[in-house]
Amino acid sequence: MKYTAIAPANIAFIKYWGKADEVLRTPLNDSVSMNLSEAFTTTTVETLPDGMSDTVTFLGEEQHPDEERRVLGAVDRIRREAGMSDRVRIVTRNSFPKGIGAAASASGFAALTLAVYGAFGIRRTEKELTIAARLGSGSACRSIPDGFVLWEKGESSDTSFARSLYPHDYWDLMDILVIVDPTRKKVSTSAGMEQVRTSPYWKERVASVPDRVKRLLDAFEQKDIHALGAVIEEDCLSMHHVMQTQEPPLDYFNGMTRTLMELVPQWRAGGIAVFFTIDAGPNVHLISESRSVSDVTRRLEGVKGIRSVIVNRCAPGAHESHDHLF
Ligand code: PMV
Repeated sequence: MKYTAIAPANIAFIKYWGKADEVLRTPLNDSVSMNLSEAFTTTTVETLPDGMSDTVTFLGEEQHPDEERRVLGAVDRIRREAGMSDRVRIVTRNSFPKGIGAAASASGFAALTLAVYGAFGIRRTEKELTIAARLGSGSACRSIPDGFVLWEKGESSDTSFARSLYPHDYWDLMDILVIVDPTRKKVSTSAGMEQVRTSPYWKERVASVPDRVKRLLDAFEQKDIHALGAVIEEDCLSMHHVMQTQEPPLDYFNGMTRTLMELVPQWRAGGIAVFFTIDAGPNVHLISESRSVSDVTRRLEGVKGIRSVIVNRCAPGAHESHDHLF
């Protein structure tokens, strides 16, 4: 049996940083994200005849033994959960460079989860798929449901799942991803998060998240871009403050990141409703409504040092595709 899944990357408006439980990958706090239309992973999984071994191929990229191990670990977990023993051939391709803080692990593990269950011919509810994806990479659970997604931290593995808050066409929010450094990030999110409790500010951050989630939900209901943007920037700065005060300090910004963080409020003062957010890398996501995109891209043209710009709409969640990769 062969099954192909496509899953979007997602950008977090309220970030996930730090686990409550390392093995179960349950988070310290709730997080909220938007699925990205132009940054996605396609994965085809085929079950193999008896006696063959699992294989993983990353198309258009070098093979990374660590990533291969992590992928096969996720496959083993799904096999155990599903009571299956079939070996599989996995071929996967990203529409965007990996390891740049554009959440390739989110789209990757979401597509893998859907494709492995699909190839086994096993149906799971959306909630169950989000839990299985979370065990591969935390943020992957947010790439399963449609559109704008809330991952509830929960109290246990079964209660830590993601669900859609609003469908992708609810609000024409855009994510203008500004690539300032296309190379792989130096410290993985998993390694970085393990040190979260060495920051004197982590408890403060965790305690401040529920109020931001509430304000974000109000902003969504009103479709108030200024209220939403204020929450997004606040949460981004809160997460990076924790990262930068960990031991050892983790600073994902570079000079271009800081330049853009200074320009965005100036553009706002000039009347453009645009806000920044940054994940575990130097690249900057600019959040606006669709009517502001041309103003933002025009401003970006005047900034030296930008490598490329990817304009994303909000996208549906993980889904089946009939275009197999092999
Ligand atoms: O699930 P991971 O290990 O890719 O962690 C994602 C962490 C951030 O991108 C920094 C924040 C987030 O919520 O996506």
